[in-house]
Amino acid sequence: MAKQRVLTGITTTGTPHLGNYVGAIRPAIAESQRGELDAFFFLADYHALIKSSEPAMVHQSSREIAATWLALGLDTDSTTFYRQSDVPEITELSWILTCVCAKGLMNRSHAYKAAVQANEQNGDDPDFGVTMGLFSYPILMAADILMFNASKVPVGRDQIQHIEMARDMAQRFNHLYGETFVLPEAAVDGDVAILSGLDGRKMSKSYGNTIPLFLPEKKLQKHINKIKTNLLEPGEAKNPEDSTVFEIWQAFATPEQTADMRQKFADGIAWGQAKKDLFELINTQVAPARERYEAILADSEFLESELKKGAEKARAHAAPMLANVRKAVGLAAFK
Ligand code: TRP
Repeated sequence: MAKQRVLTGITTTGTPHLGNYVGAIRPAIAESQRGELDAFFFLADYHALIKSSEPAMVHQSSREIAATWLALGLDTDSTTFYRQSDVPEITELSWILTCVCAKGLMNRSHAYKAAVQANEQNGDDPDFGVTMGLFSYPILMAADILMFNASKVPVGRDQIQHIEMARDMAQRFNHLYGETFVLPEAAVDGDVAILSGLDGRKMSKSYGNTIPLFLPEKKLQKHINKIKTNLLEPGEAKNPEDSTVFEIWQAFATPEQTADMRQKFADGIAWGQAKKDLFELINTQVAPARERYEAILADSEFLESELKKGAEKARAHAAPMLANVRKAVGLAAFK
């Protein structure tokens, strides 16, 4: 039986942080190493243009994200790892899908609605700062997914709506032009931890509260020291359930280590000590990959060759798929 095809994209804005690692990268690589899935992972660099108009940032972020996945042991032979912008068939499909996508569907997109709401609150024109990229980005995302007949799409909760929209577009296309696309489903892993950041809100590049994954040791320690804690003194019992330090500990520790730390909280461990322990725990785990990361970051040739290999594999699927789609809608050579 053919392996189930899973596909997910990583928008290339920002530097991978502990929250990305625990919530997305680590489970994705572990899953792919079990070898039961046909996994497609890609750098969603066209999506990055929606959020950022800083070329240097978009470029550097692509490099860092690619190096991160490779350093953490992604096997690029058994998976397909590519840059979206290396597969031009995707943007072509995106236009064709644009023509079957109801505008009303896009009006309901959370990302667009949030932008409009923010404008209204500020007394601005509702569409102030809203590009067509932001408005119609679920269509590009649908093209990412439908192009490869992916059946499962691992995403965070905030992305479920987009997968449903992709299903909608696939259904509409299949109805108009005949069975062409597989209907994808979102796969939201409820078991993975969603980490809080330095200020206690969800760790996210949009809040500027992240701990980057591959900081040099000293900086990692410094960031961990900045995690917000309460004012309880050493010797006073602390509640693990409302502590970001404990939450991050748990995401990296074995069950025994977690039980141990829970006891130390009850015994009134000093915040300074708990943070020191947390630093040691994380640092020991990431140090080997960090060294590979630094080496890969500096090796453009290796990065390019890995991504080119992935793009070739991706295009081997995308080209015949697009040919099919073009034919289905009536774009064909005269005979
Ligand atoms: N929009 C997704 C995010 O912000 C990233 C993404 C782009 C994606 N294309 C995709 C995820 C296709 C899954 C499938 O997280």
